[in-house]
Amino acid sequence: MSTLIFTASGHGKHSLTLKLAREFAAGFAEVTGDEPDVIDLYKKEVRPCKGCLACWYKTPGKCVIDDDGNKLLNKIRKADHVIWAAPLYVFGFPSEMVKMIDRMMPNIKPDITYDSMGRATHPGIGAENGKHILITSGAFPQIKGNFDGMLFQVKRLFGEDTAVIACCASTTMLLGKKDAFRPYIDSYMQALHQAGKEYGSNGKISEETQKILDQPPMPEKEYVDFVNRK
Ligand SMILES: Cc1cc2nc3c(=O)[nH]c(=O)nc-3n(C[C@H](O)[C@H](O)[C@H](O)COP(=O)(O)O)c2cc1C
Repeated sequence: MSTLIFTASGHGKHSLTLKLAREFAAGFAEVTGDEPDVIDLYKKEVRPCKGCLACWYKTPGKCVIDDDGNKLLNKIRKADHVIWAAPLYVFGFPSEMVKMIDRMMPNIKPDITYDSMGRATHPGIGAENGKHILITSGAFPQIKGNFDGMLFQVKRLFGEDTAVIACCASTTMLLGKKDAFRPYIDSYMQALHQAGKEYGSNGKISEETQKILDQPPMPEKEYVDFVNRK
């Protein structure tokens, strides 16, 4: 098996989201023995899609832009699992991640078909259901009304079964120096590790573990009061 982690954060190797992805990947590796290959999109040359659609009509399956985008798309094709580790930027993906996602157009075919929900689609969209995992983090203490755009996009593009871990109130995880916050951080990290193990065992995160990961790591009011210095 082979697993990729794509990271795209202004915080580079200090990215909190990458730290979360590594914890999930450690649990996953415990079961599968598969160590991930980490690719930092801030360090790659992935130019924006030109919208020429040559990858559909002239050179089917291949983008005409000669840069890292093509090489990375080939890596995605060969990988068994792809973990997209991106912080939430302005309710969506950071631009470096958006560019890579757009450059996956060669995986899609131009005909219009319909999916099981009656939505117009193209062959290739949703075809890799179960292969992709989204791990993201955001500073607001809620998932709903914050991560919706990003979550819709990954499920629409990669398939409704795409595993999603959205760590809200992410600043909690940066408060480790305060002893009072340590237990919150430790139990969130334990749940992430467990999620990786479960995913490695049967390609799914259990409802019980998902429920923990869908809550702010610390109580919402305590978090907001702390952030607002009350
Ligand atoms: C440009 C920018 C936009 C952001 N937009 C949001 C947002 O819409 N919602 C949110 O909850 N957090 C937002 N944040 C906070 C980050 O998502 C959060 O701090 C995240 O945990 C940082 O992870 P990283 O260390 O991996 O970059 C934003 C941060 C930046 C720098």
